[in-house]
Amino acid sequence: MKNIILIAPPGAGKGTAAKELVDNLNMVHISVGDLLREEVKSGSELGKSLSAIMQSGKLVEDELIFEIMRKRFSEPDIQNGIILDGFPRNTAQAIELDKMDTKIDAVIYMNVSREILEDRIVGRIVCPECGRGYNTNNKEMMPKVENTCDKCGATLIKRKDDTKEVFDSRYNTYLEETEPVLEYYRNKGNLYNIDSTNKDETYNRILEILEA
Ligand code: AP5
Ligand code: MG
Repeated sequence: MKNIILIAPPGAGKGTAAKELVDNLNMVHISVGDLLREEVKSGSELGKSLSAIMQSGKLVEDELIFEIMRKRFSEPDIQNGIILDGFPRNTAQAIELDKMDTKIDAVIYMNVSREILEDRIVGRIVCPECGRGYNTNNKEMMPKVENTCDKCGATLIKRKDDTKEVFDSRYNTYLEETEPVLEYYRNKGNLYNIDSTNKDETYNRILEILEA
């Protein structure tokens, strides 16, 4: 199984596509945002400072992210083929990933217009247990039972960083810090661009890349 990276602005559907790959292909989803939110949920001092950074729309410092990733990569399940969602998020992180043992087969850039991203972020509700995302602005993305996760039955919540103001900041951080990472992988020759406006098309294109 291949190891892939999903790079995209906030709300493009990284988490949604990753969960579908986990359900259908048994791949392993590594979402840095979910790992950070787990620390926040624990109520630790570290969690409190992480929460403040995440609600500002800025990035958490690289050294802490490297520590989290090294620990995650040392777990046995990563042999199944991994989907990296939210790492690397700047060029320094991409360079550090190259030094780790995990080989990357494809980097997928998921492109969606800013207007659609904002609409998705403002309408998103998420499962606090399994991280699945739903959307109150889109019939196709609503949970089967109102406010309840289809998969684990937990009550859905709104992420604290899913406001219009924090979205603007997260989007700017993406443009300044993460978009240059695309150039890094373009130069390496393993970057694929996909249009992620439509749900099924997005998933099918990722499958094609995995099968290539
Ligand atoms: P993170 O949790 O990764 O947030 P993000 O990158 O802003 O991305 P999102 O999770 O908001 O969007 P998504 O692309 O997963 O979209 P989703 O599938 O949910 O990171 C949060 C914070 O943690 C960062 O701001 C930063 O502070 C910190 N952080 C994380 N990684 C870091 C790192 N490496 N270094 C430093 N700091 C780090 O979909 C969105 C909505 O759209 C959903 O409602 C969904 O139902 C809907 N939707 C999805 N796909 C489609 C589709 N194709 N058609 C229609 N609707 C769709
Ligand atoms: Mg996500």
